[in-house]
Amino acid sequence: MQGSTLHTDRLELRPVRDEDVDRILEYRNLPQVTYWLLRTEVEPAAFRAAWRRAIADPDDHSMAVTLDGVVIGTVSLDLRDGMGQPGLPSRTEAEVGYIFDPAHGGRGYATEAVAAVVTHAFEQLGARRITAGCFADNLSSVRILEKIGMRREQHGVRDSWHAERGWVDGYTYALLAEEWRGTSA
Ligand SMILES: CC(C)(COP(=O)(O)OP(=O)(O)OC[C@H]1O[C@@H](n2cnc3c(N)ncnc32)[C@H](O)[C@@H]1OP(=O)(O)O)[C@@H](O)C(=O)NCCC(=O)NCCS
Repeated sequence: MQGSTLHTDRLELRPVRDEDVDRILEYRNLPQVTYWLLRTEVEPAAFRAAWRRAIADPDDHSMAVTLDGVVIGTVSLDLRDGMGQPGLPSRTEAEVGYIFDPAHGGRGYATEAVAAVVTHAFEQLGARRITAGCFADNLSSVRILEKIGMRREQHGVRDSWHAERGWVDGYTYALLAEEWRGTSA
């Protein structure tokens, strides 16, 4: 995980620290948080270990999102290789994800934070393509991705398993650096 700190109008985003994990665990396993996640309930020790691995991983650019010094969510960003033949430039694709404390939900903080991480990935990390996936019925997630200008690239018909709903539709979104420059100029 790299050391950048980002600022938006209302938020500060910084690398996740070991001591943040207890705070994140206060909301991570709430039913309204786990409902649309692929990894639903987490076991605290394994969750802490996963964050430690992320903190040590140079391709993991996840950020803790803070409001007045309090962690209200995390935005994950994993830099990786895209698809390609020999000669493929390395680490030019990134996947973004986000989980926020519902106590601070519905105020645009997630949108603001995800937009800042996407900007950072294009401007500072050299990403050329950013992707994100979600269940089609996760409407607030769909809204965030569309508000920040991501393009729906795939509508998977009943391609995703939901523990309560069974087979449901999934979406994949993507955004290229040149598309982003076109929309953010
Ligand atoms: C997804 C999540 C980050 C959204 O957080 P949030 O605080 O609601 O996000 P924001 O306030 O920035 O924006 C949400 C947008 O969705 C809209 N929205 C929320 N519920 C909606 C619904 N049922 N139908 C349509 N739009 C909805 C809001 O109106 C808002 O759009 P607007 O600003 O145009 O009004 C949060 O609910 C969360 O962490 N959920 C659990 C984890 C998760 O699902 N992560 C994503 C996995 S793909």
